[in-house]
Amino acid sequence: MTRHFLTLLDLTPDEFRGLISRARELKQLQHQGTIIEPLKHKVLGMIFEKSSTRTRVSFEAGMTQLGGAAMFLSPNDTQLGRGEPIEDTARVLSRMVDCVMIRTFEHDKIERFAEYSRVPVINGLTDWVHPCQLLADMQTYFEHRGDIQGRTVTWVGDGNNMCHSYINAARQLDFHLNIACPEGYDPDAEILSAAGERCTLFRDPLEAVAGADLVVTDVWASMGQEEEQKQREKAFANYQVTTEFMARADERALFMHCLPAHRGEEVAADVIDAPDSVVWDEAENRLHAQKALLEFLLT
Ligand code: CP
Ligand code: NVA
Repeated sequence: MTRHFLTLLDLTPDEFRGLISRARELKQLQHQGTIIEPLKHKVLGMIFEKSSTRTRVSFEAGMTQLGGAAMFLSPNDTQLGRGEPIEDTARVLSRMVDCVMIRTFEHDKIERFAEYSRVPVINGLTDWVHPCQLLADMQTYFEHRGDIQGRTVTWVGDGNNMCHSYINAARQLDFHLNIACPEGYDPDAEILSAAGERCTLFRDPLEAVAGADLVVTDVWASMGQEEEQKQREKAFANYQVTTEFMARADERALFMHCLPAHRGEEVAADVIDAPDSVVWDEAENRLHAQKALLEFLLT
């Protein structure tokens, strides 16, 4: 059976922890200039239906660093953009490359691709979840504060793909997740209820951040929701993470954001640029965490 990574739930909790440890080792090796090439001659195909800076660069750099290569495939320049079915594309690409990473809108598209793929498929973000980001976020928390088990994380903002992956991570790594969303922007009810008592939904973000060990937010309008920007600015007006929020959290609380961020919208500049903001480590760890994932899936 080909292993895919479409959501965090495709890993066991032990595998998730194993990837975090391996990512930390790979980071050390990288920083000390040691070259290891477990993916020599392996090729990753990367299909992006949405923009990307971090995901594209980290996967491409990661493959090269591990001895392999990555290929950027835009729907505009492939037959996907001219209507070739995703199932046919999966059958063809997976006879040529060793792994495929996809960033797309509908989650079911990546599921259909995986069903017809002979090689592992990695989710580089769908409207539903963003599991690669959580590998990096959790690595970052472990590096700064140790194990996250039993800690309290507060998600402030939209119940979106990132929020869904935080809910899945709470299940896998056994932390408590407070979610503060305005009405109408809750996470999916099924994902939430599957996490049971590990997650608590709040309307008042200040109540939700009280005592938190980690405060996380994301853009108010995700890719594909640009037309809702104005309406969302109104709905989320009280959900900007400010220094007042951070002051209510634990005194050692960290701040994370998957980026790109909008200072003055979902986060105040003096929060994202403060010393307890670990967003740059978080971004760097996309590289190390995905190298651990690629090695896990391909060797
Ligand atoms: N956080 C993240 O996935 O960034 P990109 O959209 O730049 O890949
Ligand atoms: N929720 C955001 C995350 C971007 C990395 C989006 O889907 O656009």
